[in-house]
Amino acid sequence: MQTQSEAAFSAANPHRPPSERDDFTITQAWDQYTPEEHDRWRRLFERQADILKGRAAPEFLAGLDALAIAAEGIPDFRRLNDELGRRTGWQIVAVPGLVPEPIFFEHLANRRFPSTCFIRSEDQFDYIQEPDVFHDVFGHVPLLSNPMFADYMQAYGEGGLKALRLGTLDNLARLYWYTVEFGLINTPDGLRIYGAGIVSSEGESRFALESPEPNRLGFDVLRLLRTRYRIDDFQETYFVIDSYEQLFKATLPDFTPHYAALKTLDELEPGAVLEIDTIITRGTGRVKRH
Ligand code: PHE
Ligand code: FE
Repeated sequence: MQTQSEAAFSAANPHRPPSERDDFTITQAWDQYTPEEHDRWRRLFERQADILKGRAAPEFLAGLDALAIAAEGIPDFRRLNDELGRRTGWQIVAVPGLVPEPIFFEHLANRRFPSTCFIRSEDQFDYIQEPDVFHDVFGHVPLLSNPMFADYMQAYGEGGLKALRLGTLDNLARLYWYTVEFGLINTPDGLRIYGAGIVSSEGESRFALESPEPNRLGFDVLRLLRTRYRIDDFQETYFVIDSYEQLFKATLPDFTPHYAALKTLDELEPGAVLEIDTIITRGTGRVKRH
């Protein structure tokens, strides 16, 4: 249910009207962004672009470049969709905020990425709890230009619809969390970040790679499906893939046997380290909030 202040906020924000369509999509109304909003994007972009040099995965940086996601202002989804469509057939659709799970998965399964189009306010410059256009477009869209990652996202959408039917979404959501949002990748030059939640955050971009506190463990599907996550702080554990091909191939098989196995396996705490884990770095652990 929408609260009164949310309704008032929607009415006051041309980029967040409630959707009148069944698939929750709205129109971006790109012409209605104010100069202040474009300027806020520019400052967010410049800060992140600087931090991401030598930290973000090469495929992510190549995606920013290929799609011309740049400092000049909030991208026009119509232009992005031309570029993205040509490369991988993905499209961005504008939504007012988080959408119900079945709607979200249905979009992904059809190679449509639901993106918010409002930009955070000035007092949320460093941290915003919900996704905004900077998180969605800067964080998520670049990798949708990568063919293997593009296929993974579509498969995840189909897997989400299946998990909804089977009642196993709590498990599957962990996979999204630890890859699409908070994934690390191993490269010849060392570890790099690719998860949207990391690359769109100044603090976590540094923390995920440089802090001695979190664990960094090799990617293992069943292990991830068991692992709870924190939504209120930097992660205690990051999972490291070797390639997007590894990610796609490991998640391609039917998860029904995994879901059956999970019934007899304990859930794991976010900071747990097991005998079976490939330990890249074992974290010192931590109690303090960031
Ligand atoms: N193969 C998974 C299943 O059968 C679907 C999936 C693909 C899930 C890719 C996540 C990522 O449920
Ligand atoms: Fe996200």
